Amino acid sequence: MIIKEVKARKILNSRKEPAIEVTINSKYSASAPSGASTGTHEVKAFAKDVNDSCFYINHKATLKGLKFNTFEDLEQIDSLMPKLGGNAVLAIQYAIMREMSDNEVWKFLNPHSRSIPMPLGNVIGGGKHTKRHSTSIQEFLLMPRALSIRDNIEAMRIIHEKIGKELKLREMTDEGAWIPNGSDKAVLEYLHKLLSNIENTNGIKVNFGVDMAASSFWDGKHYNYRNLLNGKAAKLTSKQQIEFVNLIIKEHFLCYVEDPLNEEDFDGFSKIRQTTLVCGDDLVTTNLERLKEALKRKAINCMIIKPNQIGSIIQAKKVVDFAKANDIITVISHRSGETMDTMIADLAVAWEIPYIKTGIHGKERECKLQRLADIEAVL
Ligand code: PGA
Ligand code: ZN
Repeated sequence: MIIKEVKARKILNSRKEPAIEVTINSKYSASAPSGASTGTHEVKAFAKDVNDSCFYINHKATLKGLKFNTFEDLEQIDSLMPKLGGNAVLAIQYAIMREMSDNEVWKFLNPHSRSIPMPLGNVIGGGKHTKRHSTSIQEFLLMPRALSIRDNIEAMRIIHEKIGKELKLREMTDEGAWIPNGSDKAVLEYLHKLLSNIENTNGIKVNFGVDMAASSFWDGKHYNYRNLLNGKAAKLTSKQQIEFVNLIIKEHFLCYVEDPLNEEDFDGFSKIRQTTLVCGDDLVTTNLERLKEALKRKAINCMIIKPNQIGSIIQAKKVVDFAKANDIITVISHRSGETMDTMIADLAVAWEIPYIKTGIHGKERECKLQRLADIEAVL
């Protein structure tokens, strides 16, 4: 394909923050999301701001006439990073991939894939994803174990609805998870019990885990829990935090723990029970150098892939390949400020990524699950 026309405009993401949408040749569009608990080592979403990146794409960048035939050709766009920022580069690359594949990106990248990821769904939450008083742990995540994505989506929906009704909750976090009234420990106990006894999920086993996003309540010396147990705040040292995380993994059979320690504590991560998935998000920020460091320090056995943390689809693919070659399980993920773009679903299938974290509730999350259900139906 050849770029004949490119248009960028400002849209609003699910948190009503400015985001960028790029349209190539009047037909193929893409947009990029933004985080709230962003890692220090992520690239900047916009070099200056959305308006500036849109203006540069519309009036200054010399994109017209560029040719793209393969995935690797997208590297041409990477050089715009200093002028545009990661979200703008990514939106251009996504839109070009849509044109190259006539909207069937997974098939274009890997026609032989038969791999549909298992979803991780945020069902209860707090941390930086709400301004209300809630848990310090950012996300309590369902991990349903059916083989079909359709069955897994249904199981997550049933449980999400049941929790809202049972606990009489009304408000949700940015990612559509229920904001609970109780402590971090009370939520762990509640979910453990609920998922051990749950009926009406068509016999599907559902495990659970957490994204602690621990950097968001680390002050350099302590992990500051607002309400760890029985309405009481608690300050834990790194050593106490490691003990606490290992205890709840064992006590509540957590199958997944993301960012249990702050984003610089590689050694702390290595002390977490690796019988469960110990996942690095802010720790690694989809960055190859940081992944190498995490491997060297035996910090993780699992990592988050968020293409906009590194701001280029080419660089994100390098990280996925390196993780796979080193037996690190990958989880492709949405951001808390999402758009209606469904590219992460296509990438999960194309790159044969085993897990996708994309929420349960809200149109910006559900559209990605629906895209996976549509691909599964074709397969
Ligand atoms: P973010 O949070 O999109 O706000 O960074 C998601 C996560 O921490 O996984
Ligand atoms: Zn995270």
